[in-house]
Amino acid sequence: MAGSGTAPLRDGREDIVLRVEHLVVEFPTKGGRVQAVSDVSFDVAKGETLGLVGESGCGKSTTGRAVMQLPRPRSGRVALEGTELTSLSPEELREMRPKMQLIFQDPISSLNPRRVVVDIVAEPLAIWGIEENRRFRVNHLLETVGLDTDTAARRPHQLSGGQCQRVSIARALVMDPQVLICDEPVSALDVSVQAQILNLLEDMKARYGLTMVFISHDLSVVKNISDRVAVMYLGKLCEIAPSEALYRRPAHPYTNALLASVPHPDASRVRGKSVPLTGELPSALDPPSGCRFRTRCPRAEARCADEEPTMRELQPGQFVACHFPVTPGRPLVTTPTGALGAPA
Ligand SMILES: Nc1ncnc2c1ncn2[C@@H]1O[C@H](COP(=O)(O)OP(=O)(O)OP(=O)(O)O)[C@@H](O)[C@H]1O
Ligand code: SF4
Ligand SMILES: [Mg+2]
Repeated sequence: MAGSGTAPLRDGREDIVLRVEHLVVEFPTKGGRVQAVSDVSFDVAKGETLGLVGESGCGKSTTGRAVMQLPRPRSGRVALEGTELTSLSPEELREMRPKMQLIFQDPISSLNPRRVVVDIVAEPLAIWGIEENRRFRVNHLLETVGLDTDTAARRPHQLSGGQCQRVSIARALVMDPQVLICDEPVSALDVSVQAQILNLLEDMKARYGLTMVFISHDLSVVKNISDRVAVMYLGKLCEIAPSEALYRRPAHPYTNALLASVPHPDASRVRGKSVPLTGELPSALDPPSGCRFRTRCPRAEARCADEEPTMRELQPGQFVACHFPVTPGRPLVTTPTGALGAPA
């Protein structure tokens, strides 16, 4: 499973459903053009869930939307089951739309407040003029996501956040998509409801053979649901690895810091001590030269300012963009003050 040049892509696998190569998204701002996504590449195999994590503003949602061509990225390629979306005409792209669906963070505001649940779920079928079994499909889906007939006649403001997210999931599934992009789908929900929605997503994935990209700022949310996890910092991917490997032996100093920042049992297993991430996130308008994490990295050296680290495969399937990754032979250590440091 060697990487493809400097991109963490698994060449030779025939079951890749989504392949993203060198994706770049820019926005015009008052201060100039900001590159919110800067040369991001990853792939997702059939039935796989890729977790996408990083701090607020690192470009997770922009990546998810650019994959859906919302809006079209400035450059890079996105292939869905081998079809290159970036080169399709608007009409051809429209034909592909049902195959990929987005689920948003805020379930209540993402649903049309004037419509009842059953019509919200049926709307994509209406848009596409699909009459056949419409009512049966919608009722069946509502039941599958755990909503009863009473709920079907209500409007979003009459439902709880968890119920609204169930409606969003039913709506996303009604067109039989291949890929589901979930953007912080449980972040707005009570902790007690989060697990129910995560379980529902897992059930739906297994039942419908879905391929998922699961976006979250919270590594502990992503852990159980993801087969692989990609870590993003200031518009770039810094590490991507099978979930188990990433949590057990994170190689990028940023992944280490993120893991230490979440109150999670694995964080203590990694380092024996919880060490939060410190320092300000630099502006995406003027990112640091070389490695973008260097201004907060405990093991930055001169080379890190001069040369941007490229992705390389450290262990089979574990890709990291760092000149001096954390390895058993070169672990991170904690200083007596509790800050991260590198052994002398
Ligand atoms: N429409 C836009 N116009 C200008 N800048 C934007 C736009 N959308 C996003 N950005 C900028 O792009 C960067 C990435 O934003 P994005 O929403 O993708 O981050 P995120 O990782 O999803 O953050 P969060 O965890 O807060 O949702 C940020 O600097 C943001 O301000
Ligand atoms: S390349 Fe240098 S600054 Fe960047 S994460 Fe690695 S050690 Fe830190
Ligand atoms: Mg976001």
